[in-house]
Amino acid sequence: MTMLRPMLHAAAGSATARTVVERSPLTRPVVRRFIAGDSVTDAIDTTETLLGSGRLVTLDHLGEDTTNADQADATVRAYQELLKRLADKGFTKGAEVSVKLSAVGQKLDAGLTLDNARRICVAAESAGATVTLDMEDHTTTDATLTVLHELRADFPWVGAVLQAYLRRTEGDCRDLATSGSRIRLCKGAYAEPSSVVFIDKQEVDKSYVRCLKVLMAGAGYPMVASHDPRLIAIAGYLAAEAGRDADSFEYQMLYGIRPDEQQRLADEGNRIRVYLPYGTEWYGYFMRRLAERPANLAFFLRSLATKN
Ligand code: FDA
Repeated sequence: MTMLRPMLHAAAGSATARTVVERSPLTRPVVRRFIAGDSVTDAIDTTETLLGSGRLVTLDHLGEDTTNADQADATVRAYQELLKRLADKGFTKGAEVSVKLSAVGQKLDAGLTLDNARRICVAAESAGATVTLDMEDHTTTDATLTVLHELRADFPWVGAVLQAYLRRTEGDCRDLATSGSRIRLCKGAYAEPSSVVFIDKQEVDKSYVRCLKVLMAGAGYPMVASHDPRLIAIAGYLAAEAGRDADSFEYQMLYGIRPDEQQRLADEGNRIRVYLPYGTEWYGYFMRRLAERPANLAFFLRSLATKN
């Protein structure tokens, strides 16, 4: 299993593997476990179901590593349409959007990226929704935090993701645990060198707890993005210890992962938000979900085998 993870990360970057996986019609049912569907209508319908169950939602229009300005512009327009559709349905009290800066030009130009991110924030503001910046590989961390800082000057409700596997993250949590600051803390999902990340799973978990302590004790709004039962229990304990009520932080999980636990948290009166991706560019996202949990790969291969 330990060999599988790097192989899956390598496949995530391989054009050949991408073609094989994307073209197989047999892939679709497995992909659908993690993704609302190809269209904005699929995303809106699934949002409606999740909101109806008492869960909150953050929507991700899938796409990353955009290589030209037209593609980046198309991503911005997709978010503008999504936000309008959410507002028309009256969903923006419970639904926000998550944005990968690489989808709006981070690999092309810093000015273009900031302009595009601003356009999404303007659309979110008029829809009454918030925006959270996803965090990608470690080479983008500083640039993403710079964009966060610029955006928050005009849109103080913009949030960001920090990844506990990065050695630097406890310090970033200290800097960002300030009033109004929305920080989504996750473990981290990219293949990274040991010079920048904790490799050992237990070290990552310990880092997560240290970061969580900083965020819960701080003045911001912590978003506990994990499916790990131990970390979820610790988050509840730390929130109580910090005197936080249920509205002053939230749990977050990915669509399709531990849905029963999502519902339990909602039923107990906690704020729990589901990260809901949609769109045709699902390959990178899907491969990271397989790499996180190689058992998913076995499930995926079994489902291919039984259909042959
Ligand atoms: P861990 O991986 O230890 O899993 C704990 C348990 O959860 C597992 O034992 C299993 O039961 C279940 N589980 C976890 N992953 C599963 C999977 N793929 N399939 C089935 N079961 C699974 N990362 C990043 O680098 N940048 C980002 O911007 C984000 N954004 C983000 C938003 C939200 C809302 C979440 C929940 C996660 C992210 N992530 C992310 C992904 C994150 O970094 C991490 O890879 C996954 O959440 C898995 O880590 P856990 O904390 O769940 O623990």
